[in-house]
Amino acid sequence: MSFLSAEAMTGGYGGADILCGCALAVERGEIAVIVGPNGAGKSTAMKAVFGMLALREGRVTLDGDDITRLKPQERVARGMGFVPQTRNVFTGMTVEENLEMGAYLRDDDPAETMAQVFALFPVLAEKRGQRAGELSGGQRQQVAVGRALMTRPSLLMLDEPTAGVSPKVMDELFDRILEIRATGIAVLMVEQNARQALEIADRGYVLVQGTNRHTDTGAALLADPDVRRSFLGG
Ligand SMILES: Nc1ncnc2c1ncn2[C@@H]1O[C@H](COP(=O)(O)OP(=O)(O)OP(=O)(O)O)[C@@H](O)[C@H]1O
Ligand SMILES: [Mg+2]
Repeated sequence: MSFLSAEAMTGGYGGADILCGCALAVERGEIAVIVGPNGAGKSTAMKAVFGMLALREGRVTLDGDDITRLKPQERVARGMGFVPQTRNVFTGMTVEENLEMGAYLRDDDPAETMAQVFALFPVLAEKRGQRAGELSGGQRQQVAVGRALMTRPSLLMLDEPTAGVSPKVMDELFDRILEIRATGIAVLMVEQNARQALEIADRGYVLVQGTNRHTDTGAALLADPDVRRSFLGG
């Protein structure tokens, strides 16, 4: 069984099912990437793994424990950190306050973790007193990822961390995500920049209409003519 394992996830928002038997897995020290067309259910799958969606069927396990019925905050306590696709920073709060919010479930001193976040994203140290709403898109994404890291997660879930940033900033963010992986954290990430994301993916999932269409290593998906033609623009 994988460190994170989501099996046969089926459910939606009350109407028709959005997820139909979706399965995902990631190991510690690995990056798993979910790609697929708009509306495929990628964000819904992330919400389901994080406990923001009541599944009709299926189960989620983390480190061997069944967490299917746990609330999101209980999953955070178990080691999940989630950066949602939208509204993922408190724009009216400073960078430092955003990071402190990330640590609110901890009862120990988060200063050392904050120093690690500042080492990973030096620009955040520079701008620690600035309101997150005044930052560039790329810097905001760094705040969002930093906030999630403040809980010292063993699984970091990122929904489109490079949305709306320049190619250069995207490359930099991916480099930071590789550094995060190297610390032994499991990374589960949705990405619209499919080709670049699959290049750093240990495993990749192509999700279509809430169902796994292709599952393989990132390299194998990049080499698959079907995947290239249908999902990577040739
Ligand atoms: N809160 C919601 N209530 C009802 N339906 C929703 C809700 N959120 C998403 N949906 C629907 O669920 C389906 C999947 O949406 P989802 O956001 O998971 O797709 P996605 O793959 O993340 O798309 P994108 O690439 O645009 O981010 C869509 O048909 C969408 O309209
Ligand atoms: Mg989405």
